[in-house]
This record gives sequence, structure tokens and C-alpha cells, in this order.
Amino acid sequence: MILNINNKNYEIDVDPDIPLLWVLRDILGLTGTKFGCGIGVCRSCTVLIDGNAEQSCLIPVRLIGSKKIITIEGLSEDGSHPLQKAWVEIGVSQCGYCQAGQIMTAEGLLRKKPNPGIEDINEAMSSNICRCGTYNKIRDAIILASKG
Ligand code: FES
Ligand code: FES
Repeated sequence: MILNINNKNYEIDVDPDIPLLWVLRDILGLTGTKFGCGIGVCRSCTVLIDGNAEQSCLIPVRLIGSKKIITIEGLSEDGSHPLQKAWVEIGVSQCGYCQAGQIMTAEGLLRKKPNPGIEDINEAMSSNICRCGTYNKIRDAIILASKG
């Protein structure tokens, strides 16, 4: 099957039931997307699928079809995406493990609502777990990124 990831086509030969997360990490080496729980409760594995933030650990690769996948590696090649710049400026990351998923969920939000309010941010980000407790800085960084 062919997957379109970060605007590039990849031909892969895998069990169609394998979750997208493992194709990204183990087959294609796109290890920016993280494995946290594997059961849909932490969102560290979040990627965009046709612009929607989705948990890649839950989606069998056979369901992707021609949908376009964007991973953290696809946001920019040089860290110049507004969310990446805001994350650095605010100093969001602590251990960093959850942060790719946080940024991809934030990207899904900003694609739908370029100028989100606090409630929009809280609602969109509410399922992304950060064991280091960076939630306030994540919110500040999303606001900063939304201002351009
Ligand atoms: S690894 Fe996918 S939700 Fe936790
Ligand atoms: S920065 Fe450590 S889990 Fe979020």
C-alpha cells in the first residue's frame, strides 16, 4: 500500500491491521511521533490525518487509504513553524516526551480555529497528557503561535 506522509509517498508492505504508529516509527523511522500508552489515552502519538489530530496508535494502517498524514517531522524542516517557534520562545518542554503530540494537537486546532480562545484551547488540548505538567506553558505557546 502507499501512504502519503509529509507530502511524500511511501510504498510499504505490512500487515494491514498494524497501527499507523508502528508504521511511522518502526518501518519508516519517523520516530518524532511517540508511543505512550498504545490504548488511546495519552495522545503522545498524535498526527494529523487529513488535517484532523488523530491518535496513530489506534488507527489500523488499512484505514488510511489516500488520506494525507502529517507528523511532527512534516511541520517544517528547520523549526520555523509558528508553533515550533512559540514552543521554544516560551520554553514549554521539560522531558519532552509528550510534546510532539501536544504540538500536533495544537496544529489540528489552529487549522480549524486560527485564533482560538482559552476555552477552545482547553477543550482541544484536554486529552493530551503531560506528566511534567507543562499545561500552562502549552496554552501560552498556542496563543503566541496564533498571533503569528
Ligand atoms: S500512545 Fe496513542 S494515545 Fe497513548
Ligand atoms: S514534557 Fe514531560 S511528559 Fe510532557
